This record gives sequence, C-alpha cells and structure tokens, in this order.
Amino acid sequence: MFRHLLRIDHLSKSQVEAILTLARIIKDKAKRGVPHQTLGGKVLAMIFEKPSTRTRVSFEVGMYQMGGTALYIEASTTQLGRGESIADTARVMSRYVDGVMIRAYSQEAVEEFARYSSVPVINGLTDRFHPCQILSDLFTVQEKMGDLQSRRIAYVGDGNNVANSWINAAALLGFQLVLACPEGFEPDAPILGKAPENVRLVRDPREAVQGAHVVYTDVWVSMGQEEETEHRKRTFAPYQVNAQLLQYCPEALVMHCLPAHRGLEITSEAMDGPRSVVFDQAENRLHVQKAILELLMGDRKPKSLQAQE
Ligand code: CP
Ligand code: NVA
Repeated sequence: MFRHLLRIDHLSKSQVEAILTLARIIKDKAKRGVPHQTLGGKVLAMIFEKPSTRTRVSFEVGMYQMGGTALYIEASTTQLGRGESIADTARVMSRYVDGVMIRAYSQEAVEEFARYSSVPVINGLTDRFHPCQILSDLFTVQEKMGDLQSRRIAYVGDGNNVANSWINAAALLGFQLVLACPEGFEPDAPILGKAPENVRLVRDPREAVQGAHVVYTDVWVSMGQEEETEHRKRTFAPYQVNAQLLQYCPEALVMHCLPAHRGLEITSEAMDGPRSVVFDQAENRLHVQKAILELLMGDRKPKSLQAQE
C-alpha cells in the first residue's frame, strides 16, 4: 500500500480509491453499530504545533473506536521545543508507537520526520498541504453525488494548503477544479504550474462557480497568518460565499473544511442553508481517517477491503 501519508501527490489513483472504499465500509459498519476494531493495542502519537478541533478529535476517537489509543502531544512541550532535532525525535518516538500524526508549520519538517521514522507518518496539516482533509472531502463528494470523476469543484478564496491539496487531487483523479483566488493569493506556483488542463485558476468567483457541482471555501486567514488579518479581510471581501454567489450555481452543494468565520468567507445563510453539507463533511473526517489509519497501521492491510462483515 503506502508507507506514509504526507501529500496527495505521493499517492496513486488506486491508493486513493482504496482509502475511499475502506472508508465507505467503515462508515456503513459504524452506522449499523458494528464494531471495526482492526487496530487493537496500537498507539498513535499526535504532535501538534498548531491548534485543532476536528483533526485532533477525529484521529483520537478513530484510534479508540478501532481498539487502539492516541497520545495528544503539544510540540512545544516536548524536547523539540528545546532544540532536539526532528531526526532524533522521529527515531525515538517511532520506537514507542505504531504511527505518528503531525500538524506542523513546515511541510519539509513533516517529510524529514517521516524519513527518520520507522513507523508510518501522517500529515495532519502543514502550511502547504492538508491531505487528510481533501481525502475526506473526496469521500463526501462521492457520497453526496455518486461519483467524482464527472464533477466540477469550484474553490473560492485563498490559494492555501487546502487549495494546494485540491489541485493535487484533481491532477490525480481528473475531475474539473476551478479556483477563484485574488491576485497575490494564488496556490503555490509550482503546484499550479504542473497541474493538468482540468485545473484552472480564474479571478472572478462568479466565473468559477458557474456550472459547479460543489462550491468550496476555506478561511481567509490560515493559522500562522494572523498578522495579515486586516489586509486579507479587505482583499478577500469579493470572494465571500453567500446567497448572491450561489445564484450562479443553483445545483451546487456548499462545502467548507471548517473552522468557519461566519460573515467573512461564508455567510451563515450559505453555511446553514439547504445546500450546505459542512457538518456531514466534518463527520466524514472520522470515517476517512480510520481508513487511513487502518491502511497504514493495520495488520490486515488491503485484504480488509474484501472483508465486508
Ligand atoms: N478542518 C480541520 O482540519 O479542522 P481542525 O483545524 O479543527 O483540525
Ligand atoms: N487553511 C486553514 C485550514 C484549517 C483547517 C489553516 O491552515 O488554518
């Protein structure tokens, strides 16, 4: 299968499909109240340099429900905060646990940790990517719309970590992705530059959402960018997902990775409206992460895909 989950462009199409298929099995079993304990006795270390609600709780609950346990570790309270190297930390920590999930500023730091770790490493968000979020969002689109391939996703707002991972996913799977970002806030140039024709960048959010099956947005100020708040609020104002914008795509679902800043990137009307799937989307983090954990840390590995008890 795959050894770590660091970024979507490190995965193959069939690996993404395996994650989504297993997540479907896990969610269906959970809804029927059937236990799915494929990680008995396993331990996941979760290292956080940044805050989290969904990622932390869904990984922790997921491990518990699968028969294992998770450790919440604030990076600043470890010896990392006092200068112990990433490489040494990875070598030591991976002797204690069966997997490590890291939320960090630097993508390079997470990749370095993985190089020195003897157990699987999962990227729980960096400044550059948020692969677990987008894998879960792909699951939500598939669940709500039946298929992904023929869909058109409009991403409106900041060309950030979430946007970068959406581009990776569209490049891999082939669905249409149109991003509307203001000048100076585009996704990473090397990622966008390598993207195939099914990925487009426009300036006008109305153009992006026309014909879209999903309108997706994220915060205007990501974690670590707080000093830019006022400038960003002014720049992004025309990119708000609201009733007016949604008139251009009457069939589209509304998605947001959350946390949302109601009244900024999305109005309450859009977020609580009949087309919003944001809370189902948030729930799916749990089911999809359990699939990721099982594929990386479970003993049964892909055989579990056939094991539809
Ligand atoms: N969407 C997401 O990753 O949320 P948290 O920051 O709460 O983990
Ligand atoms: N782009 C946001 C995502 C939060 C889940 C951030 O990095 O803060």
